[in-house]
Amino acid sequence: MSARKIIIDTDPGQDDAVAILLALASPEDLDLLGVTCVAGNVPLELTSKNARIVCEAAGRTDVPVYAGSAAPLARPLITAEHVHGQTGLDGPDLWEPAMPLADGHGVDFIIDTLRSHEPGTVSLCTLGPLTNIAAALSTAPDIIPRVQEIVMMGGAYFEVGNITPAAEFNIYVDPEAAESVFKSGVPVTVMPLDVTHKVLATKPRVEAIRALDTRVGHFTAEMLDFFERFDVEKYGSEGGPLHDPCVIAWLLKPELFSGRHVNVEIETASELTLGMTVADWWGVTNRKPNALFIGDADADGFFTLLTERLARL
Ligand code: RIB
Ligand code: CA
Repeated sequence: MSARKIIIDTDPGQDDAVAILLALASPEDLDLLGVTCVAGNVPLELTSKNARIVCEAAGRTDVPVYAGSAAPLARPLITAEHVHGQTGLDGPDLWEPAMPLADGHGVDFIIDTLRSHEPGTVSLCTLGPLTNIAAALSTAPDIIPRVQEIVMMGGAYFEVGNITPAAEFNIYVDPEAAESVFKSGVPVTVMPLDVTHKVLATKPRVEAIRALDTRVGHFTAEMLDFFERFDVEKYGSEGGPLHDPCVIAWLLKPELFSGRHVNVEIETASELTLGMTVADWWGVTNRKPNALFIGDADADGFFTLLTERLARL
């Protein structure tokens, strides 16, 4: 079976970086057509620098990296340096990437790519705020039926919020963008905090990656050494949740995950619950299901997959 064509839309971020590495380590499964960057964890200038650092770390400077939206559709940008550090990739020694940004805007790349491939053959893997995706869908509605699937990290139901008591960061940064994506009719699979908080980069798991004793193994372990601080402090967890790599692992081994088709709507009006993903998990409304909302994962299977694939780089 030929490799699945994907675009990764991202705001690196250590967990984004691990997701990109996992995709790059799986060329027989995933044909990464390009990376589009969005402002989120850190401003766009840094997310688009960090994405190129990750591609260079993997030896894949052939993958085009585009800068996309520098701010949410209708709100000022909120960033998360308190989680990811000032660079967005704190932990390992970083460098100025030699590979240039690809010409053009990330949103135009998404539109052009969907228009130039057979309908239903390109999936969008979103690891940050949904600004680029919403902008592409509204600028070129003809691409909506051409998207195979949007697989996103975002939202929460049982786990509620990580940036406010009610909202997960990716959705909270651009709730209007999220609302338009969930209302678009594009098939959506959601990796919310409900599942990402179950795949924790515990010490033994991080040490198994470090023990690969490769450039990528050390790079990844050093990112995770830094990344765990916030969640260990906040939740008392045994390690940092690997949010974004769940998106890629779903494409590689969906059997590692389970969830339900439910209706998900986004709070865009209330300041108290802005950005909340209101998931009808128990089916108490007659709202039409619009997303596969993932609630559980085989964490050991996830880390076995991740470590085996990273060993290839
Ligand atoms: O809430 C977690 C999400 O926000 C992850 O994608 C992380 O990288 C940040 O973007
Ligand atoms: Ca992210």
